[in-house]
Order: sequence, then structure tokens, then C-alpha cells
Amino acid sequence: MGSASMLASVAMRRLEGKVALITGGASGIGECTARLFSQHGAKVVIADIQDDLGLSVSKSITDSSSSSSASYVHCDVTKEKDIENAVDTAVSKYGKLDIMFNNAGVVGVNKTSIIENKKSEFEEVINVNLIGVFLGTKHAARVMVPARRGSIISTASVCGCTGGVASHAYTSSKHAVVGLTKNTAVELGRYGIRVNCVSPYVVATPLAKDFFRLDDEGVHGIYSNLKGAKLEPEDVANAALYLASDQSKYVSGHNLVVDGGFTITNSGFTVFG
Ligand SMILES: NC(=O)c1ccc[n+]([C@@H]2O[C@H](COP(=O)([O-])OP(=O)(O)OC[C@H]3O[C@@H](n4cnc5c(N)ncnc54)[C@H](O)[C@@H]3O)[C@@H](O)[C@H]2O)c1
Repeated sequence: MGSASMLASVAMRRLEGKVALITGGASGIGECTARLFSQHGAKVVIADIQDDLGLSVSKSITDSSSSSSASYVHCDVTKEKDIENAVDTAVSKYGKLDIMFNNAGVVGVNKTSIIENKKSEFEEVINVNLIGVFLGTKHAARVMVPARRGSIISTASVCGCTGGVASHAYTSSKHAVVGLTKNTAVELGRYGIRVNCVSPYVVATPLAKDFFRLDDEGVHGIYSNLKGAKLEPEDVANAALYLASDQSKYVSGHNLVVDGGFTITNSGFTVFG
């Protein structure tokens, strides 16, 4: 490789030298983001409860090139000790934590009636999707505040800014993630730490397939606003890459919606036919 193209490829590696922790990194959006962050030069720690899958993803990242390194740590995001341990593992293994991606999430039971919803079912979703993000943000901040830098990203959803797409618990949890993102961005900004979230429309991962009973085409053909394009995990990973990298150095408290215009459209009432 000539020195000019070598420089170009280094410049294109947007996370060179950074360390990232990704919850829910064994599958779907998290797995895809772990692979992309690694391709961009980050050392990646995958935190999940699916140990076999998480270990095999981290091994395949490490084996993918001589400069790649990924690790796996068992971490149930609802348990503070697990999150604390995952953050400490990233720091002890790679020396620091630059990027925290709070991405683990569940949809819970597919019940739409609030009268039929059990308190325990509601709490289960809130525990993973909201308490998990709270704990991840808290323990990332614990090591990022002394370093006076860092980027914290959480996965919210189009359900974080609109109603009627998923269950009450899921919609509530994702609205709360957007709120927590804004509040922590205000507090942590004084330490040079940015806090943002990404809000995808439906992506055909195990989570969405389970909930919407999707085939691989998803619900794109029926409900999406943007025709001719299909939302893939890579699109969400690229949004997270932007928020993780220094290219977004002045972006904080932002909810980066990746939905092809779904949430700004009322398909039942439009002048565009
Ligand atoms: N797929 C979609 O359509 C869609 C749309 C909007 C937002 N999201 C959000 O994206 C995120 C990733 O979901 P996905 O679609 O990639 O699904 P996925 O099921 O492929 O991945 C979710 C991962 O989270 C892990 N996880 C679940 N509970 C956990 C816990 N207690 N502790 C640690 N890890 C746990 C799972 O093991 C899994 O690996 C979630 O927060 C989800 O709510 C998904």
C-alpha cells in the first residue's frame, strides 16, 4: 500500500485508538455495531447474557484482522454489579473507556391491552430498556468524568417519540431513554462527555422478528415512508459510529432518528397522496 492510500485508510478508520463497550453486542444491531467499530480501529468489549453467541462474535472480530481485538463479558444490564464489572473489564483490558453503547433491549410480551398487562411484564421491559441504560450511563460516567472525555450512546427507538407502534412498556421505556439522554447530556457536558441516542425504525433482527412476526422483508413494504430502501442493522451501526467518532464532537443531547421519515409522517393525512 502506498503512503497516500495508507494515510487515506487510516483517516477512514474513524475510531482509531478508542475503546468501546457495547451492551447487547451478541446479536442484531449491537453485533453489527461491534464489527463496524472494530473495522474503524476501536477495541471492543461485548457485554451480553448470550454467552456462547457473544464469545463467538468477539472471537470472529479478533480473528478478522491482526489489528482487531474484541472481548466478551457476561453482563445482565439489570444488575449493577454486572455493569460495574463490564466497565471495569474494558478499563483493565484496554486501559480506558471512550465509547459506551447502551444497546441491550427487549420487547417483552406482545400484549396491547393495558388492562391485560401484568405489572411484572411492564417492569421486566423497564428493567432492561431503562434501568439498564441508567446503569450503563452511570458506570460509564464513573470512568469518563475523571478522563474528561467520552461518548455515551443509547439505543432508543421510533417508539421513543411516537405512540401506537409497540407495547405500553416498550414505548414508555424508549421515551424514557430519550429523556435520560437529554438530562445526562446536560449534566455530563461540563466534563466534556457527550450523550446521544439513536432511534431506529423496524430492523429485521431477532427482537423485531419475534415481536412483529416478521419475515425478512419486515414491515417496510407496508408502513415505511421512504420507498426503495430497506433499513438494515448497518444503517443503525453507521449512525452510532457517527455519534461515537470525533466527527460528532459538538453533538450532544441529540436523538438521531434513523427511520426514513416514518415519525414525521401521518400516512392517513397527507397532501402528497
Ligand atoms: N430491531 C428493531 O426493529 C429495533 C427498532 C428500534 C429499536 N431497537 C432497539 O435496538 C436494540 C437492539 O435490539 P436488536 O433489534 O438488535 O435485537 P436483538 O434481540 O438482536 O439484540 C438484543 C441483544 O440484547 C441482549 N439482551 C437482552 N436482555 C439483556 C440483558 N438483561 N442484559 C444484557 N443483554 C441483554 C440480547 O441477548 C441480544 O443479544 C434494543 O434496545 C431494541 O429495543 C430495535
